[in-house]
Amino acid sequence: MRLFFALQPDDAVRDALSSLALDVAAAARGRPIARDNLHLTLFFLGEQPAERAERLWSAANALDATACTLALDHIGTFRGSGVAWIGSSARVDALFALQARLTDALATEGIAREDRPWSPHVTLARSVRARFERPLDAPIEWHVRRLALMLSETRAGGARYRELGARVLT
Ligand code: 2AM
Repeated sequence: MRLFFALQPDDAVRDALSSLALDVAAAARGRPIARDNLHLTLFFLGEQPAERAERLWSAANALDATACTLALDHIGTFRGSGVAWIGSSARVDALFALQARLTDALATEGIAREDRPWSPHVTLARSVRARFERPLDAPIEWHVRRLALMLSETRAGGARYRELGARVLT
C-alpha cells in the first residue's frame, strides 16, 4: 500500500484552495489537483506492507499533537517536479514540531527519516510548464485540525486518496 501522513483542510479551506488550484493551473499551464485530493503531506511513507498500516496509525494516534494555524500566503513552483504549491512564508514552529514528533514516532516503528529537509506545502497543480511565484494578498487562514493516514490509489483518472485513520487535533 502506498501511504502517507497528511493534514487535511476543512471544507471552507478546501474550497478556497480548490479555486486557487484552478487559477494557478491555468496561469502556469498545468493540471489542477482535484478538490478532494488537496492536503499537506507531513510524511511520505511510500510502499508499505498492508499489515503495517495499523501500527503506523497507532503511532500517529498516540502522538502529543495540538492544533495550529497556518496563513497560506505564498504560491511557488518546484521546477524539477513541475509542482505548483501554496505555503506559508512564516515558519510555524508548532507545525515543524508536529512533523518532528511524527518522524520520531515513525522511527521507533523502523521508518527511516527523510534525508532532505521537510518543506511544508499544499500542491495545487502538477506538470506546470511555467514558473509561478506570487504572494497572496488575502492569505488563506487554515486552522489545522485533522491529521490522517492516507492511502494513495492509482486509478484511470489519476491518483485518489483515502483516509485509513484520522484524528482531530485540539
Ligand atoms: P507533492 O504533493 O509535493 O508531490 C502523495 O504522493 C503525497 O506525498 C504528495 O503530497 C507528495 O508531495 C508527497 N510526497 C512526498 N515525497 C514523495 C515521494 N518521494 N514520492 C511521491 N510523493 C511524495
